[in-house]
Amino acid sequence: MAAKAWGGRFKQETDPRVEKFTESISFDSRLAAFDIRGSQAHAQMLCDVKLISENERDQIVSTLDDIGGEIDRGEFEWKTELEDIHMHIESQLISRIGDVGRKLHTGRSRNDQVSTDLKLYIREAIEKIDLLLLDVQRAFVAHADEDMGTILPGYTHLQRAMPVQAAHYWLAYCEKYERDRERLADCLKRVNISPLGAAALAGTSLPIDRHLTAKLLGFTEPAANSLDVSSDRDYLAEFVFCLSLIATHLGAWSEEWIIWFTTEFGFIQLPDSYTTGSSIMPQKRNPDVLELIRGKTARVIAAVQQVLVLLKGLPMAYNRDLQEDKIAVFDACDTVIACLELVPDIIEGAELQKENIQARLEEGFLDATALMEYLIKKGVPMRTGHGTVGQLVALCESINCTLSDLSLEELQKASNLIEEDVYQVLGTENAMASLCSYGSGGLEPVKEQLARWKKKLQ
Ligand code: ARG
Repeated sequence: MAAKAWGGRFKQETDPRVEKFTESISFDSRLAAFDIRGSQAHAQMLCDVKLISENERDQIVSTLDDIGGEIDRGEFEWKTELEDIHMHIESQLISRIGDVGRKLHTGRSRNDQVSTDLKLYIREAIEKIDLLLLDVQRAFVAHADEDMGTILPGYTHLQRAMPVQAAHYWLAYCEKYERDRERLADCLKRVNISPLGAAALAGTSLPIDRHLTAKLLGFTEPAANSLDVSSDRDYLAEFVFCLSLIATHLGAWSEEWIIWFTTEFGFIQLPDSYTTGSSIMPQKRNPDVLELIRGKTARVIAAVQQVLVLLKGLPMAYNRDLQEDKIAVFDACDTVIACLELVPDIIEGAELQKENIQARLEEGFLDATALMEYLIKKGVPMRTGHGTVGQLVALCESINCTLSDLSLEELQKASNLIEEDVYQVLGTENAMASLCSYGSGGLEPVKEQLARWKKKLQ
């Protein structure tokens, strides 16, 4: 019989179709570097507690380095019958250094090993994604700086609502991505607990030192319960959720810019290098990249569902179902990274179409709320002021003019508290300038916001 690492009690060979069905090497080979790092820490620990000698440790560590080098250079041969990355590396180790290699798996199981590998992979992914999000934030802050003083119509329900500084809009996205970064940092706390040495499910009778392997691998501490940690994938569910929210933010932003890029809106110009043409209509410039970012959100969100459904019916502790977790996580992670690698350049290359925006700023009664608040400041109850301004808006619509086009007489017919100074709040620019509350879209609060962001991201 072909020597399977677990083959001792078997009388028949594994059916080749079963080997094909149960393998994970086709997708977990990417864990190789993490698997090797985990094994080297484990060997170091086995030596420290005298389960192997220093010489044996050195042989294991250096042979693992050699194997890692071959994998990196694409010289390593993957075999379906060796199931997964753990078996591939261990069997190579044994074929090279014999009995010494046979000692590596002392006091551990593939169950704690695979989760250790995954956690090391996610830790690196979080680091990478955090830096990419930082690039995105920097791109938004650069625009905020550049566009200071430009006014944008703010929307709710995609209907014109109130005017804001363009910088307020750019910095709004900085806040969203800041929360994404915070969520990843929080997720990292639970990723950073070491499963190694939990072994199959119950720990071991051998004198291993889990605190040492945790420390060697940069984990904060070893997990306190072997049953729990050998089956725990909460951190994966959390991680893909964090990814799905990043993707959701990216998707919603893409949708907005797709709308802004239309002839109807004409709010933004996208760089040529990030748009594509049509095979039949010569004039077309399509926002395909943004559309694909929006579209790819679907598969990242689906990964959350995939992980949760995978976990929902699992009795304690490890079950082979868990092998499928990696498919969802790798895809979600690759997808988000691929999007984030493009986004900063799209933001940097995009330009607000300031003239178009400016030309229509007096449409849509963006100053109506400012007028209502003017009345409140004169002592009018809010609801009454709301009604009064509503009537004035209806009047303007019937005679096709703006609020600031109305004469003082016409305005006073609606409320005798209105005086000449009303023209200091009417008009989009005045309405924007009147915004002064903390966190609002007025000039001064936005200047403060921008200064805070510049300091934070430098
Ligand atoms: N390839 C497996 C996984 O990804 C390794 C875990 C252990 N397998 C086992 N039969 N106990 O989950």
